[in-house]
Amino acid sequence: MSILNDLSKDTVIFISGTPCTGKTTVASELNDYLSDNGLDSKLIKINDFAFENNLVLGEDPDKFYKVIDIDKLNECLNKEISQSTDKILIVEGHLSHLCEGADKMIVLRLNPSILKARLEERNYSESKIQENLEAEALAVCSAEAYEIYGDKANEIDASDKSIDEGRDLILAIASDELECPVGSIDFMEWLLNQ
Ligand SMILES: Nc1ncnc2c1ncn2[C@@H]1O[C@H](COP(=O)(O)OP(=O)(O)OP(=O)(O)O)[C@@H](O)[C@H]1O
Ligand SMILES: [Mg+2]
Repeated sequence: MSILNDLSKDTVIFISGTPCTGKTTVASELNDYLSDNGLDSKLIKINDFAFENNLVLGEDPDKFYKVIDIDKLNECLNKEISQSTDKILIVEGHLSHLCEGADKMIVLRLNPSILKARLEERNYSESKIQENLEAEALAVCSAEAYEIYGDKANEIDASDKSIDEGRDLILAIASDELECPVGSIDFMEWLLNQ
C-alpha cells in the first residue's frame, strides 16, 4: 500500500480517547497491519506499561481504573521512546494524551449514543457510564491533548467506521497525508438532548 511508503520508520503514534472508543482494537489492528507489511513496529498498552513499571498509586473506589503517577509515566514512556528509534511505536490508552513524545497524537471520538451501548456492555456503574459519556460529549480528551500538542493533536470520528477504516485514517495522519486538528467533531447535541 503506497501510504506505507510515506510513513517514517520511527514514527511515534499515540492513540487516546474516552474508554470504549476502540483504542485497543484499532491499535492492535494497526500493529498487525504494519507487521504484515514488513514494518518493524511495537505496541505499548499504556495501562500494562504503567503496571509493569510500578506506577500505580492506588485504586479508584469504582475499581475499574487505577490511579497512575502521570509524571513518572511520562518519564518512563519517554525513556522507552528514546530507546525505540528503530521502529514505529504505537502507544494506546486513555492516559497517553497526558504524556509527551508523540509525533502523531490521535484522539478517537465516538458518538455518545454508540459509546453508551458499548459502556453498558461492560460492568461499569451507572455513574461511571454517565461520567464517560459526558466526558466524550465535552471532548475532554481532545481538550487535554490540545493543551500538550496544540494544533498537532488530531481527532478522528470513529462512529460508524470499521476497524480497518479507523486504521487507515490513523495511517493517513501518521504519513502526513491527512490532518484532523481537534475542534471539528461536535457531540454537544447529545448532551443537550439528555
Ligand atoms: N470500529 C469498531 N466498530 C465496532 N465496534 C468496535 C470498533 N472498535 C472497537 N469496537 C468494540 O468496542 C468495544 C471497546 O473497544 P476497545 O476495547 O478497543 O476500546 P478501548 O478504547 O481500548 O477501551 P478502554 O479505554 O476501556 O481500554 C469492544 O467491544 C470492541 O469490539
Ligand atoms: Mg483498551
